[in-house]
Amino acid sequence: MVERERVICEGVALAEAGAGVRFEVEYFGDIAPAFVIRKHGVAHGYLNRCGHVAMELDWREGVFFDADGRDLLCSTHGATYEAASGRCLGGPCNGTPLVKLRLEERNGLVYFMGFDDD
Ligand code: FES
Repeated sequence: MVERERVICEGVALAEAGAGVRFEVEYFGDIAPAFVIRKHGVAHGYLNRCGHVAMELDWREGVFFDADGRDLLCSTHGATYEAASGRCLGGPCNGTPLVKLRLEERNGLVYFMGFDDD
């Protein structure tokens, strides 16, 4: 499951609580959708897979935040997740967090570094 580091996007592509950047990762041998967003100035990345049902979160490509720009919101049934941790905050995710990616941001670029549990 370990993947070499890979550039996802330029850091400036991620506005605070703004649109996310979608990409794909290998996860347990399958190609899976993923995304990065920025919250409190830090880039965070997750599999684009709700903890309720394995659906992508964004109802419009790259729109992951709720209207307030506070939490991540699943467009299908409204599960909410803490943007900085992926923790389920409410709704049908029922305590199941998002799968968090390890990222690094350096020299103006955001890198995918693998998964938190690698
Ligand atoms: S699929 Fe995300 S809340 Fe149901």
